[in-house]
Amino acid sequence: MEAYLVDWLSLLLRWAHVVVGIAWIGASFYFIWLDNHLEPSADPKLSGDLWAVHGGGFYHVEKFRDAPPQMPARLHWFKWEAYWTWITGFFLLALVYYAGAELYLIDPSVMALSKGAAIGIGLGSLVVGMAVYEGLSRSPLARNDAALGAVMFFLLAAAAWGLCQVFGGRGAFIHYGAVLGTIMVANVAHIIIPGQRRMVDALAAGRAPDPKDAVAGKQRSVHNTYFTLPVLFTMISSHYAFTFGTRWNWLALVALTLAGGLIRVWFVMRHKGRAPAWPVVTGLGLIVVLGFLVAPRMEKSLQSDVKFRAVKSIIDVRCLGCHAAKPSFPGIAEAPKGILLDTPERIRTHAVQVRQQTVLSRAMPPGNLTAMTDEERSLIERWIFSGAKID
Ligand code: HEC
Repeated sequence: MEAYLVDWLSLLLRWAHVVVGIAWIGASFYFIWLDNHLEPSADPKLSGDLWAVHGGGFYHVEKFRDAPPQMPARLHWFKWEAYWTWITGFFLLALVYYAGAELYLIDPSVMALSKGAAIGIGLGSLVVGMAVYEGLSRSPLARNDAALGAVMFFLLAAAAWGLCQVFGGRGAFIHYGAVLGTIMVANVAHIIIPGQRRMVDALAAGRAPDPKDAVAGKQRSVHNTYFTLPVLFTMISSHYAFTFGTRWNWLALVALTLAGGLIRVWFVMRHKGRAPAWPVVTGLGLIVVLGFLVAPRMEKSLQSDVKFRAVKSIIDVRCLGCHAAKPSFPGIAEAPKGILLDTPERIRTHAVQVRQQTVLSRAMPPGNLTAMTDEERSLIERWIFSGAKID
């Protein structure tokens, strides 16, 4: 019953997280698009304007070069989308990865952490990530975009490597995404919104706003834009064991971060009119190369005759605690992803996925909780190559 309620909580949190995340990233994409599509205006007070049609209505948006001559009675702010994305995301992280640390965070074959230590490292990574980023963005280095970008990329690669040395792949990927997401929300909460508030206060008091606030706000929202695609990848990565489950998982994470960043760079350039092809070509090229590197290899020499009885008894012992109609494993309310391995026919139906999860990515059993041995994995591999027969 408890596991069933936790499943509901997880569903509702995830649903809310996706909805507010769409509202946040959607608005942020829209404003980047808007800024880059403004047309020069004859009015010297305006840095540009544009016309748009959407949902059966015509819209005319104007951007002021500095501030409007007088503050409008009502000014819309965009911040709660970001805050709620972080809040729902944090609770989801705690529910899935901290409450279920044995299942999704800790992998004893990577590092035998206690639950407390794993959670401590996870939370610590968010704080350290934010502090390092903040330090960098305030340092003299931040005046040079290219240098800052290069150093940040290097540090992110180090973070990807480091997280993959302490957590199972799945937990490492989600923490990498959570570090970036936390930095993005902190940018909104600590730099962009307070800066805007100071600007509005200055105008209300009849003073000229400090241009530093506008510059810092712009810098942070540009960073946020380039982090977006990598973060979104990590949020869906848990569905793809071939990324987080491989030996070179940290390199896959670095490659996909770079690919996502470059593709976003290209979109932003394109908004402005002219975009060289290299960012998108390099980004997509990286994905293709990665695809080849982590592709499953066929081992012809594995052909042999394995008795199904042996396979069945491995599955009974190592998998059935979770993948049965009534799982006995604490915290599992129903067969995960609807994968039932309780009859010979069902095992055969899922043979390809079973190989993917136990042999190729080693994502199953999660955290190797049921202590599956390498010999057992290789026996399953040989059974599949000899035709996955069940008699
Ligand atoms: C401790 C519980 C547990 C055990 C034991 C376990 N699994 Fe899983 N399995 C899960 C969970 C949880 C998921 C869902 C993972 C997710 O949400 O991506 C899963 C998902 C799967 C999937 C679907 C993966 C996908 O993304 O499509 C397959 C296939 C699978 N397991 C096979 C196995 C096999 C084979 C074994 C035994 C060698 C096994 N599992 C042992 C909990 C378990």
